[in-house]
Amino acid sequence: AQRIAILGAMPEEIQLLESQMTQARTKTIMGFQFKTGKLNGQEIVLSETGIGKVNAAMVTTLVLKEFQPKSVIFTGIAGGISQDLKQGDIVIGSRLTYHDYGDLTNEGLSTNPTRNPITKERNPLYFPSDSGLVSLAIKASKDVTLQKMSAEAAQPNISVGTIVTGDTFVTSSTAVGHFQKTLQADATEMEGAAVAQVCFQQHVPFLVIRCISDKANEKASVDFETFKKIASDNSATLVKEILKKL
Ligand code: ADE
Repeated sequence: AQRIAILGAMPEEIQLLESQMTQARTKTIMGFQFKTGKLNGQEIVLSETGIGKVNAAMVTTLVLKEFQPKSVIFTGIAGGISQDLKQGDIVIGSRLTYHDYGDLTNEGLSTNPTRNPITKERNPLYFPSDSGLVSLAIKASKDVTLQKMSAEAAQPNISVGTIVTGDTFVTSSTAVGHFQKTLQADATEMEGAAVAQVCFQQHVPFLVIRCISDKANEKASVDFETFKKIASDNSATLVKEILKKL
């Protein structure tokens, strides 16, 4: 049976999954560590990509080449763009795009300037997550208990949305408004669309799960530090439930 690849950018984002893997073995390729083993009945390969699009694309490429996974799931945290989202909520990314590629002034992009270098075809503006994996994630969302960010906070929600990716940690209400208006963004992070582009071009199903750690506004840096651990674990908790249902 083929493995499921699970990727996260930072140590905190994969720590819960790593600590619960059994029969774990580590293989190092070009300095990146890939841990194979079992989790919730599935054979998986887990890796920490490092932050940003280039690292994410490198590790996605390496994991596809070396392990031929049947699908790739990215787990981690994000800045909330939609006003409906609070810290602790999860976004199941149904589609991903870049917020820092091409000319994004005025009304944003109508086409994706990236092309598949193999087929020369133009890539879609949004890379779609695998619809079967999105459905499974929605099912899984009904069977998980997520952590609240504080005793007074409301119970976290899980919704399906659009994730935008770029090589910047976003700390600006103006940028938030712009991403919302031009890209219909719900959340922003720094790896998802890069993973999505590699998988799309290689015809491998993928899914991105992100838990909101901050609102990508002027308070984002402080909130990120405060909430990154709980947000990372909430995202990993949903991924574990998805593995159970695969
Ligand atoms: N990941 C978590 N919060 C983020 C933010 N505000 N910008 C980019 N990536 C993030």
